[in-house]
Amino acid sequence: MQGKFITLEGMDGAGKSTHIPFIQNLLAQAGYSVVSTREPGGTELGEKLREILLHDAMHVDTETLLMFAARAEHLQQLILPALNAGSWVLSDRFTDATFAYQSGAKGLNAERVLQLESWVQGQLQPDLTLLFDVPVEISVARLAQARTPDKFERESADFFTRIRNAYLGRANQHPERIAVIDSNQAIHLVEQQIIQALKSVL
Ligand code: TMP
Repeated sequence: MQGKFITLEGMDGAGKSTHIPFIQNLLAQAGYSVVSTREPGGTELGEKLREILLHDAMHVDTETLLMFAARAEHLQQLILPALNAGSWVLSDRFTDATFAYQSGAKGLNAERVLQLESWVQGQLQPDLTLLFDVPVEISVARLAQARTPDKFERESADFFTRIRNAYLGRANQHPERIAVIDSNQAIHLVEQQIIQALKSVL
């Protein structure tokens, strides 16, 4: 049987990383074998591209093409084989991030992302996306306390507002797939929302 594909999204500082172990445990307790991965990254080549993407300045077209190059490799080497073997795949970010960052925040025409999505993914979409949402001030404050910021984490509050709006717009367009998790709450309350959202696929 084919496994399910779950993705986690949200702007930097929205708290998704905090909840990954909890989600992995829930799925493992439900009896599924879980492959956890991330984008950009997830393969040897993808991790090399991640270093470049997170630290080098480049044109938004170049950035989008490299994101999808890493994604193509990720899909072919890891995501599709795992799903076909019956494992569930939990990916920290996927194509919604390209819509939010490269299109929503950096202004790339969404049509370009649609073209690449259709080329690289065909019909494949996540079965469920958890969108971790916090007000921009919270994410900016969390990032200010974090380790050395990467290129994206150094962006302005305006940039994060555009990301948040783009993500919430995606959630409105795809309510059957994207569950918005209010992560500006105590951890146990966020966990309850995650459990609720996962019920749609478990
Ligand atoms: P992370 O810090 O959550 O691992 O994500 C890496 C950064 O890459 C994050 O700032 C968002 C950015 N990103 C994009 O801009 N476009 C994409 O398609 C993906 C997957 C990530």
